[in-house]
Amino acid sequence: MTPIKTLGRAGPARNEHMTFRANMGVGRHGWLRLTPAYGVRLVRERLAELPEGSTVTDPFSGTGTTPLAAAELGHTGQSVDVNPFLIWLGRVKTAHYSSETLLAVAHATRDVLANARRHKKKNDLWLPKLFRIEKWWSPGALHSLKALRNGIDHYEGPVRDLLEIALCRSLISCSNAAFNHQSMSFKESDEKPALFDMNDAEMAFVNFEKEMTAIVESARFELLGSATLHQGDSRKGVAGLAPADLVLTSPPYVNRMSYIRELRPYMYWLRYLDQASDAGDLDWKAIGGTWGTATSKLNSWVPEVKTPVDESMRKVCDLIRRDGGKNGPLLATYVHKYHHDMWLHFQAITPQVKPGGKVSYIIGNSTFYKHEVPAHEWYAIMVRELDYTDVKVETIRKRNSNKALFEYELTATRR
Ligand SMILES: C[S@@+](CC[C@H](N)C(=O)[O-])C[C@H]1O[C@@H](n2cnc3c(N)ncnc32)[C@H](O)[C@@H]1O
Repeated sequence: MTPIKTLGRAGPARNEHMTFRANMGVGRHGWLRLTPAYGVRLVRERLAELPEGSTVTDPFSGTGTTPLAAAELGHTGQSVDVNPFLIWLGRVKTAHYSSETLLAVAHATRDVLANARRHKKKNDLWLPKLFRIEKWWSPGALHSLKALRNGIDHYEGPVRDLLEIALCRSLISCSNAAFNHQSMSFKESDEKPALFDMNDAEMAFVNFEKEMTAIVESARFELLGSATLHQGDSRKGVAGLAPADLVLTSPPYVNRMSYIRELRPYMYWLRYLDQASDAGDLDWKAIGGTWGTATSKLNSWVPEVKTPVDESMRKVCDLIRRDGGKNGPLLATYVHKYHHDMWLHFQAITPQVKPGGKVSYIIGNSTFYKHEVPAHEWYAIMVRELDYTDVKVETIRKRNSNKALFEYELTATRR
């Protein structure tokens, strides 16, 4: 096997403009955060190379950065995700909002806030079954969120969609959870139950109003192009996708990060999740998902197909199994299943790329017990087995303080 040359396009520095941080405060891109989202600047740089009116596909849509950026630049964006909440989010971010709709949103905001402020402290409004919800919000904040949720339930269509985006943003701004890490965590707090504080309740209302104003402002901007989002599984061919001029995406990384885990506060409040088992079921459908019941399913997983990287993978997996103690076998299976599923994906997406069309995958490597899992190299081997030429891997940035972790871009052209 020829070693893969890694070139530094932007140099392997920690370039924050390439991550979700760069998406905050850039109009619709800043509506909701997901730590592993990639930066809109990087996406725009790649899209700038395309003629206007191109078709751009993202098979791992996440927060919809690619379809939104494509539509903003006058292209046709299309994307796929297994997670129905993310499909909803992407559709709301890429929708057209008339001035009548935005006026109706302003009226609805006032109405929802006025009703929510009138709700008595002790009420029996609907509350999501999020595990240990009292850790996430103080009693005052929780009271307000319930009252806002109840008020929003009286609306439908695009007005309700925008109110729900503001609810998502407010529930994060008044939460005890810290969202500025790779993975969501709780701020240090003493374990004493907090008392009801009217200031917390009022703060949540003030936040909601502020968020709503910013959302309406950014919803005013017209998109030059359009976008369609499909709920589906990118390991299989997705019906309804037009052949792409460019596939631009950042798939899940081989790092056991669960998108469902990260998104659970939004998904519970917006009723995409009702109980913990729903989360595990959905994560099992996601490539690299291992949260909740998905982990036990992994224990009995057997591959359906062989992949072109089985040989290289076996060597690394043997080391992980050897050095990983009681978790070794599970993690070795995790690494195997991840690449097995990506192989299914590469085979499924290839016929959905135009001849001469390009693919660009932003992917990180990972380490388990100091053994590197070079996903970028294994992607290149898989893509070379398919109908592509000009397969290249470039290093685009260093990921974090772990010296071994980088982000790469794999590019190739369909024959
Ligand atoms: C790294 S995130 C994408 C982030 C995105 N680029 C952004 O800017 O928000 C990977 C996404 O792949 C989705 N995903 C995982 N397995 C999938 C599958 N089999 N089919 C479609 N989407 C999948 C996850 O739900 C997650 O949203």
